[in-house]
Amino acid sequence: MISDILQLEKSALGELAEAKTQESILAVRTKYLGRKGLLTGLLRNIAQVPADEKPLFGKRCNEVKELLEEKIEEALKLQAQGKKEAILAKEKIDVTLPGRSIPPGRVHPVIQIRREICEIFATFGFSVVEGPEVELDYYNFEALNIPKDHPARDMQDTFYIEDNMVLRTHTSPVQVRIMEKVRPPVRILSPGRVYRPDSDVSHTPMFHQIEGLLVDRGISFADLKGILTAFLKKVFGSDTILRFRPSFFPFTEPSAEVDIRCVMCRGKGCRVCGQSGWLEILGSGMVDPAVFKNVGYDAEIYSGFAFGLGLERIAMLKYGISDIRLLFENDIRFLKQF
Ligand code: DAH
Repeated sequence: MISDILQLEKSALGELAEAKTQESILAVRTKYLGRKGLLTGLLRNIAQVPADEKPLFGKRCNEVKELLEEKIEEALKLQAQGKKEAILAKEKIDVTLPGRSIPPGRVHPVIQIRREICEIFATFGFSVVEGPEVELDYYNFEALNIPKDHPARDMQDTFYIEDNMVLRTHTSPVQVRIMEKVRPPVRILSPGRVYRPDSDVSHTPMFHQIEGLLVDRGISFADLKGILTAFLKKVFGSDTILRFRPSFFPFTEPSAEVDIRCVMCRGKGCRVCGQSGWLEILGSGMVDPAVFKNVGYDAEIYSGFAFGLGLERIAMLKYGISDIRLLFENDIRFLKQF
């Protein structure tokens, strides 16, 4: 019988040594010390032990019970501590690691150009105003003297919202909205998004324009030339050569397109300038009296000039970008370069 106790002690201690989790340690406790446990069972059978062995048997049982209780307590403590250490080891923060940097954002090249142009014109006394992108036919076409049968009004060239409402095809309607509201002198610049159903290497359905308008007494074509020349030399450099080429717009008379000598080939002729040596930069002209009439300005007293240019085109020429779509793909490797 005494040998039973020794056997039990050995196996209990062996199992305890193997038990690595809290559950398995508790399972050992239940197995040996629980109400129906093996050691409890042995003690219960003390009646069958021969009388002379009883005192020793009882003593041994109690010793083993105490030993097991102690060892189990100890195992539970160690287990809990180990768990804590494992967690600490796993969650250890290496304070010597270099920090993760958050790369600073950048201003998109088109917006850079917009800011640059607005700043240049601010020095000429122009202030910035904005107009709606969803525009009435009246402001986009009618008030700008663009006749009903003008090709620009075709469904193929304009996004129609309704019969009399469009996505503006240019920023020129802002001229009319401003002149309706204020009396001369007027000096405004109006940047914004415009829309046309076009898509290829040099056209996207949405692009950006800037409109300019100056109206006062005694404004002549010389003022137009002077201001636009000063402006383009600031953007493309003081050695920029330009030419004013007669053109036509329904809302200006006379009208001129302004070209600069090709920035790529310096006038020799290349792919960018279509071998002409010149790059078209903007449209301009003296505000047509018909437009003044629509806004109630007296063309006998006031005169002025207007101009409009595309920002993507300027950005492409200034930075040598060959495909306009690169400006809208937002590939960080591309945008980082400006
Ligand atoms: N609105 C014209 C366009 O989108 C550009 C333009 C030309 C604007 C002549 C003007 C101007 O103000 O005078 O093609």
